[in-house]
Amino acid sequence: MQNHQHPFRAVIGGDDLDHVYIDMSQKRSVSRAVRLEPHSVVLDYGCGVGRWTLWFARQVHHVVGVDISPNMVKAARLAADTAGIHNAEHRVLDGMPLPFEDGAFDLVNAVWVLRYITDDNELARTVHEICRVVRPGGHVTFIERIAREDPEFREHESDFNGPTVYRRWEQYRSLFEGCGMIVKESAISSASPLYWPYAMARDTLRRRGLPDPLSPLTSLITSVSLAGEGLTARLMQSLVDRDIMHCSHRFICFQKPVDG
Ligand SMILES: C[S@@+](CC[C@H](N)C(=O)[O-])C[C@H]1O[C@@H](n2cnc3c(N)ncnc32)[C@H](O)[C@@H]1O
Repeated sequence: MQNHQHPFRAVIGGDDLDHVYIDMSQKRSVSRAVRLEPHSVVLDYGCGVGRWTLWFARQVHHVVGVDISPNMVKAARLAADTAGIHNAEHRVLDGMPLPFEDGAFDLVNAVWVLRYITDDNELARTVHEICRVVRPGGHVTFIERIAREDPEFREHESDFNGPTVYRRWEQYRSLFEGCGMIVKESAISSASPLYWPYAMARDTLRRRGLPDPLSPLTSLITSVSLAGEGLTARLMQSLVDRDIMHCSHRFICFQKPVDG
């Protein structure tokens, strides 16, 4: 797990080693929910530096990454070129509507993007467009930070230099359902009960300048956390469902009905 230049670095700060766990755990969620085929065509909405675009490109026929930031698109193109990937294209988005035909994609993936659309009308328009470009029978996957109660606005999210809003999961659900989508899966995301207490203890030691015997264990803890996630996710989900705890990151997969 040599990920000191992990692509997360360009979009969020913090510890690269934590990003390996989050990245792998998120990608597992998508792989489990959606069958990616060699003929699939994917839209990566809010592609950033291409963390997902490149991952999809290795598994599907074609992937399009779009982002409102020209710098992100430039970095994603460079990453694809460096990796020798030729079935990915990247485009700068210039508002709505999306420049694609109805039903053009088997899957639209949007991870940590919708929170940056702070205006509810703009969000509704974006969700409408995302759903329009998915083919009947196709999917939308997204991972978002969600609020427990009322929407939470932040002027500057610590990870990203811009205003954000964490919305309730129900708000996203009703927007997507209003566009005719069906919830296929809704689950907590990257919530290993092993990994996060470990990371907190490790970071506390570091912050206090104390001897840190835990850092060398990160790879091992990451592997064990991922291997056990099938079981621990069920446990954590049941705690969340019973309102015993709140998990702020959620993976959601919608499907567009075949009969429209
Ligand atoms: C935290 S990054 C996530 C990047 C990528 N999805 C990932 O998971 O690595 C958020 C990205 O969303 C982009 N973004 C923000 N608002 C957007 C919008 N309305 N439409 C498309 N992209 C947007 C930003 O430019 C940034 O690249």
